[in-house]
Amino acid sequence: MIVIDGPASLSGEITVQGAKNSTLPLLAAAVLCRGENIFHNCPHLSDVDTALGILTHLGCCCSQKDGDLVIRSDPTQSEIPPQLMHGMRSSIVFLGAVLARMGEAKICFPGGCELGPRPIDLHLSALEKLGAVVQESRGCLTVQAPHGLSGAYIALSFPSVGATENIMLAACTAQGTTVISNAAREPEIADLAAYLNRCGGRIYGAGEGCIIIDGVEKLTGSEHRIMPDRIAAVTYMAAAAVTGSSLTLLDVDNGHMMPMLAPFEESGCMVRPHGHSLNIMAPPHLRAVKHIRTMPYPGFPTDAQPVIMSMAAVGEGTSIFVENIFENRYSHAEELCRMGARIKLEGKVAVVEGVPALQGAPVQARDLRCGAALVVAGLCAQGRTQITGTRHIRRGYEHLVQTLADLGARIQEVSR
Ligand code: UD1
Repeated sequence: MIVIDGPASLSGEITVQGAKNSTLPLLAAAVLCRGENIFHNCPHLSDVDTALGILTHLGCCCSQKDGDLVIRSDPTQSEIPPQLMHGMRSSIVFLGAVLARMGEAKICFPGGCELGPRPIDLHLSALEKLGAVVQESRGCLTVQAPHGLSGAYIALSFPSVGATENIMLAACTAQGTTVISNAAREPEIADLAAYLNRCGGRIYGAGEGCIIIDGVEKLTGSEHRIMPDRIAAVTYMAAAAVTGSSLTLLDVDNGHMMPMLAPFEESGCMVRPHGHSLNIMAPPHLRAVKHIRTMPYPGFPTDAQPVIMSMAAVGEGTSIFVENIFENRYSHAEELCRMGARIKLEGKVAVVEGVPALQGAPVQARDLRCGAALVVAGLCAQGRTQITGTRHIRRGYEHLVQTLADLGARIQEVSR
């Protein structure tokens, strides 16, 4: 349980962790890239531990020292057992890599469905276009391509991040050229392509809506520094905003932060991006954040919606949220209401009437970003906030409690 005694006043500098959503596909890429794969700036997260568990099970040798991760890619297995698949939804990104390297992959449907139904139909139909044969039985899948995969034209009906990554991984060593149209444009896609290209891949256009992949015979492991985590960065910005604080974030990619800056400016914060750092100065009282519509990149990211809702909860006036990516992504709203927030939900819309202050309360992190939103809310609430379900938070935030304590918050992690 995380216990916060608020309200807090924060000050200082934070070095932002490496991106979780970049690390997981990069670890899947290691299955494909023969020899040694070296990743720097790798965050310590339980999702990363789950991915390392999958790699070890597949027969790869993983060693970790500080933020450096070395993976010797020598897979002997093509099956990922259910307990590892169920650990996190992103384990699905191993499918394309294992299939391409081993000629087959056996997996169960992934876990982590707390954001509503999260189907994998786009992943599977794309792999079929590349020549894979998919068989399903009792919630488990066998995907085979004994004679290899062949390049194809794949038009995604929605720019799914995970499907785009899976196609890139599977198509890298396919025969011929693959074209992905309506590809996801998230920065993590470009980070994955940069690594695969360094390993000998030929991927063009990653980060844009059309990606072209010329298949190569094999990939050989290389070295890569994982990009900064834009969602961890925006979480710390929200923490500064609700507490009227000034913080400096180090090691951010300000290009990636741009789609998330509008609500900070609208609520009265002063944001100064400079090189690889970003400074935020918040006013004593926030204004409403007005209108947030989550969209695929370069739109406003769904992962940042919960922490911005914590800001809106104490911003003067009315803020409207429209969640367009996931069906069930307002669990934090219900918990924020326990702390005195005034939020009305109607399908994909949330209307937030700002209140002068939140009150500390026992609340539950129901998913990763819900947990982050509750920590942000707890920092500005009057009195004690007790957050359970912290295992979700450990999936995506490295040393969150210690980092906030170092910035001046009265926050601790206690066992119940
Ligand atoms: C990734 C991120 C997650 C982020 C999300 C959207 C990782 C590890 N996770 O998740 O943090 O919230 O992008 O930016 O990078 N869909 C289908 N069929 C499919 C695949 C997806 O209908 O085969 C739907 C999903 O149900 C969802 C939407 O497409 O409604 C977006 O999903 P997707 O972009 O695939 O997200 P993830 O890759 O799972």
